Amino acid sequence: MPTRPEPAAGAATVLDVADLRVHFELRGSFLGRLLGRDAGSVQAVDGVTLSLRHGEVLGLVGESGSGKTTLGRALLGLVRPTAGSVCYRGTDLAGLRQAQLRPLRQRIQMVFQDPGAALNPAMDIETAVGHPLRIHGLVRDRDELRDRVHDALRRVGLVPVERFASKYPAELSGGQQQRAVLARAIILGPELLVADEPVSMLDMSVRAKILELMLDLRRDLDLSCVYITHDLATAKFFCDRVAIMYLGRIVEIGPTERIFADPAHPYTRALLAAVPEPDPTRTLTRQLPRGEVPDGVDPPGGCSFHPRCPHAFAPCGWEGRDVRALLEQRWTALDEADYAAEQALFADLAELDVRGSRLRIRPAASRSAESIRALLEQVRVGDPDEPLWRGVRQVSVADGACVVDFVEGVDPNLGPVDEGAVACHLYDPAYR
Ligand SMILES: Nc1ncnc2c1ncn2[C@@H]1O[C@H](COP(=O)(O)OP(=O)(O)O)[C@@H](O)[C@H]1O
Ligand code: SF4
Ligand SMILES: [Mg+2]
Repeated sequence: MPTRPEPAAGAATVLDVADLRVHFELRGSFLGRLLGRDAGSVQAVDGVTLSLRHGEVLGLVGESGSGKTTLGRALLGLVRPTAGSVCYRGTDLAGLRQAQLRPLRQRIQMVFQDPGAALNPAMDIETAVGHPLRIHGLVRDRDELRDRVHDALRRVGLVPVERFASKYPAELSGGQQQRAVLARAIILGPELLVADEPVSMLDMSVRAKILELMLDLRRDLDLSCVYITHDLATAKFFCDRVAIMYLGRIVEIGPTERIFADPAHPYTRALLAAVPEPDPTRTLTRQLPRGEVPDGVDPPGGCSFHPRCPHAFAPCGWEGRDVRALLEQRWTALDEADYAAEQALFADLAELDVRGSRLRIRPAASRSAESIRALLEQVRVGDPDEPLWRGVRQVSVADGACVVDFVEGVDPNLGPVDEGAVACHLYDPAYR
């Protein structure tokens, strides 16, 4: 293994991410573009601030679509931030050109989910693992190259080395392939490893072994790691700290032990409730709160978790779309005739999607605004504990429309809670 230069004295922080945003512009339809219509953008990473200390393993945990991969790629300078910064040992990656990023690539390595796709099927393992040494011109001759490759293969447990070195990826199991990918990742002597779901495509039986190998590598090579996963159980096993992500944001971050013993954010609690006995061989089951992860193109107002949050209250960002979701949920339980009668009250249901703290719902031509108000009252009386009603100031009739006034929604900031931070109004003294 190459010896790494000692980190500069006092430089305990490896990565510093400040208010990072990565938004992807959507191209939209051909007609939309022709008409100059904006198809919007996905806010894949939406204001993330975090730091990684030397030698630490930080987990990024969240459901699919929460922005973990995009954040991981931004940490390596593989996607350009829309705003904010990613500093690796004081150097902002966003300001660097490809040529300037190149030497940093030796220090920061990424491991992906699918080891089969990460390895060139036409390259034997010895050539693949030695490839980074050759392209960076870091070896004097073939003997040195072979020695270093064999050392790396030994470290990842691909022994006897002679047997594995000449094999092709297709001749290896998934676990062995991921070991080869890890050998290639460590061969340049990196300081930081970003691992994106490195075990989720592997058989249950080998997941724990690969994670144990990663722990050994971390200890022996003094690595700092960012471990990306949708699986809390493996995060508990592997991480010193975890950041829980939801729709491009960190909603909670803190020491692993504290998060698992005493989760603060309602989303973290819901995720944990889905994994009662954390165990590295189990994956997250889908007993999450009502509804799906919303669309990142047009996320819910206020706290983006509010439509699914059982504790949501007045300031959490209630809006017309939530009223629509409530009505649609009600309609699934009605018979055809009642459903048709209630739907016929509305001039245009799409009016419910208009954003803002005042919702105007116009009745259909032969119906009255009062009948819509009465319907909403009936829904409220049917389920007064529905969190939405905590955010409704009043439902009235004005200018021929039913008007719903909501409490103005507020986007919660990540604020300090117990050695970590939580983005939830429940922890904001202003609302207690
Ligand atoms: N290149 C891209 N172009 C457009 N949207 C993208 C792109 N990459 C990711 N996204 C979107 O960004 C969001 C976050 O994706 P991703 O970072 O892959 O999340 P995760 O890894 O947590 O599943 C998703 O809504 C995804 O569809
Ligand atoms: S701010 Fe807290 S209580 Fe409100 S919706 Fe978000 S997670 Fe739930
Ligand atoms: Mg991903």
